Amino acid sequence: MTSVNVIQTQPIDGQKPGTSGLRKKTRTFMEPHFLENYVQSIFDGIGGVAGKVLVVGGDGRYFNDRAIQVILRMAAANGAARCIVGQGGILSTPAASNLIRKRGTDGGLILSASHNPGGIDADFGLKYNGPNGGPASEGVTDKIFARTKEITEYRMLEAHDADLSALGEQTLGAMAVEIVDPVSDYAELMESLFDFPAIKALFAGGFTMRFDAMHAVTGPYATEIFERRLGAPAGTVLNGVPSPDFGQGHPDPNPIWAKPLVDMMMAKDGPDFGAASDGDGDRNMIVGKGIYVTPSDSLALLCAQATHAPAYAGGLAGVARSMPTSGAADRVAEKLGIACYETPTGWKFFGNLLDAGRVTLCGEESAGTGSDHVREKDGVWAVLLWLNILAATGKSVAALMDDHWQTYGRNYYSRHDYEDVEAEKANALVDALRGKLGELPGQSFGPLTVATADEFAYDDPVDGSHSAGQGIRIGFTDGGRVVFRLSGTGTVGATIRVYLEALETDPAQMHRDPQEALSPIIAAADAIAGITSHTGRTAPDVIT
Ligand code: G1P
Ligand code: ZN
Repeated sequence: MTSVNVIQTQPIDGQKPGTSGLRKKTRTFMEPHFLENYVQSIFDGIGGVAGKVLVVGGDGRYFNDRAIQVILRMAAANGAARCIVGQGGILSTPAASNLIRKRGTDGGLILSASHNPGGIDADFGLKYNGPNGGPASEGVTDKIFARTKEITEYRMLEAHDADLSALGEQTLGAMAVEIVDPVSDYAELMESLFDFPAIKALFAGGFTMRFDAMHAVTGPYATEIFERRLGAPAGTVLNGVPSPDFGQGHPDPNPIWAKPLVDMMMAKDGPDFGAASDGDGDRNMIVGKGIYVTPSDSLALLCAQATHAPAYAGGLAGVARSMPTSGAADRVAEKLGIACYETPTGWKFFGNLLDAGRVTLCGEESAGTGSDHVREKDGVWAVLLWLNILAATGKSVAALMDDHWQTYGRNYYSRHDYEDVEAEKANALVDALRGKLGELPGQSFGPLTVATADEFAYDDPVDGSHSAGQGIRIGFTDGGRVVFRLSGTGTVGATIRVYLEALETDPAQMHRDPQEALSPIIAAADAIAGITSHTGRTAPDVIT
């Protein structure tokens, strides 16, 4: 017999979900009632789950399995009809988005703190995605947040754990729990988008690749798709077995955290192609033999060459990039004569444009690229689109990028992060900047003169919503730009992100060191924002 307990609780004030749901220290999520309060707030915020069908899965980090048991018992206690759960509690974020869409569900709960480390002393996260498969809209997020502040009770079924390892159907109270293979539906979707025979022929011809799954969720997806379906030799996928603490690593696919892969790619006899993905499988890093491709450049290249893939052979409806992402994609869109949208940071802003059919591809400077096939960014998808283009053109990554820069110019780009800054100091820096935006145009900083200075706000062209305070952008007369923004995903202190960009159109200047090419912008950024005087920091903690 199972029974529903109604448990009295206190509001959990201040738990505002960020761009990717709620992220906290794992121990915070493990505190008595914390997870339960947040799950009940989600259920209440979306208008209850009675009779609804939800997808549930996560990136396998520490506490993933326990949290799923709690979510299932609460979903059952709140009257949900069915939960579709990835076997072992595993679902990559894009695979969850696909399942939500494919099965026509009422949304899903994804357990992940993305690229943040996992473990009892690291990070955990939970987010709700809507029926379109994408992150909750601003309106829904606000409702969930409002519930966290007024919640007084939650509902919990008294029951045994569900068996997450057994494929097929079981029941929890009156709710069906359906355990599905986390990989097969996703792999099938990929096979429908790309020219698998051409990619298979590429590998059969001796093309070499290394995909670093970083001990995170993409291991099983990459092994099935690259090694089994596309015939890449065993050993192509590195660190392919997911572990709760990601092998004690930091599953963020960038040149810092995926350095071993980048080093391998820079070696003389390195593989032809390298790629990596993050904790929950939505980010990607692309590296060619001897060349690192910035996410902004990758988005631009994919836009320019997408028609090589069957799914995009008819051309792109448009492209969208987050505001801090470089303007490289804009230059491609202009040439293709398609629309280009600039949105606030966070994938949810792309969802409306994708749903409305206004854009086909979208991307962020933070290693996120995706298309209208799901409503999340998608790491393995990006790698497959690159492979499809490499197979179709027969060119190397370096040759493709070189041709691209010669055609469109090169947007040198880098992001400097100042981490764990005291919140007051970070806010003071932004307030001071905001206060002097009006006087910046016309001022010179070394060789650079400010052309425009504003704080980015976005009016969603689809639902009409307005998002203010989305970052401060300063444009220079030569096409360069610096953007200042505070991170919305950190779990301690504040992170100041400084996004730097310089446009180069001289064909002879396409192979400079990016930090050197950006040095005038870097100097101007500090002069304008007073980073050192406000924070005491003399150098960024992370440069990507
Ligand atoms: C970061 C990235 C942003 C991305 C988000 C979720 O957010 O900058 O592009 O959408 O993670 O993966 P931030 O910490 O900058 O708010
Ligand atoms: Zn992620």
